[in-house]
Amino acid sequence: MERLDKLVSLNLNITRKEARSLIKSGCVSVNSKVEKSSDFKCDEDDKISVGGKELNSKKFVYIMMNKPSGVICASEDKNEKTVIDLLPDSMKRKGLFPAGRLDKDTTGFVLITDDGEFAHSVLSPSRHVEKTYIAKLDKPFDENIINEFENGVELSDEKLLPARLEAAGGDFTTAKIVIKQGIYHQIKRMFKKYGITVVKLNRTKMGNLSIDESLAPGEARYITDDELLLIK
Ligand code: URA
Repeated sequence: MERLDKLVSLNLNITRKEARSLIKSGCVSVNSKVEKSSDFKCDEDDKISVGGKELNSKKFVYIMMNKPSGVICASEDKNEKTVIDLLPDSMKRKGLFPAGRLDKDTTGFVLITDDGEFAHSVLSPSRHVEKTYIAKLDKPFDENIINEFENGVELSDEKLLPARLEAAGGDFTTAKIVIKQGIYHQIKRMFKKYGITVVKLNRTKMGNLSIDESLAPGEARYITDDELLLIK
């Protein structure tokens, strides 16, 4: 249950005060009936609309985006296009942020939410949520590197958690990597240590939830309640 003025403010990216006056003016309806009380408690199944536009009545939203190359994982940026900029207006609302950062040139699964606690639990290494990537490499990897990944690669002063590495294509220049952390440039640095350059990187999975392959680069859709359980 969430207050009507809060949901209107979140969805339309306006202040609570503005939301209250909008509600008072009779522009907001719940289940096709004009609702003028700002403190009206909305259920997740209620259909809220403002001037004919339907709003999302959920307290928190969880979105999967197929991130294209060339945009950054941030909520806003003066110079660069962000994943939030790519969301259609119908999905935009206050407080959305990408849970975790893919590099500008990395593509694939980005989770966008306004639920800070959920994001933290997905990103915290101690929660062991696996993130799966497919990497195109400039040279093949070998058994020794598989073992090194499994034992925890040492980067600068940091020893990483064990990671899984296997061949994903016909040869050993396409790799599937599963990691539980999200250190800056982690996978690129892990391979770099062995003289291998990551030419292309794509995140395919968070926890047990795979990216919806029908999403074109830049497209996004809501994650269902059942799918959400697969992430953690
Ligand atoms: N590792 C990287 O090097 N880059 C990413 O974007 C994600 C993981």
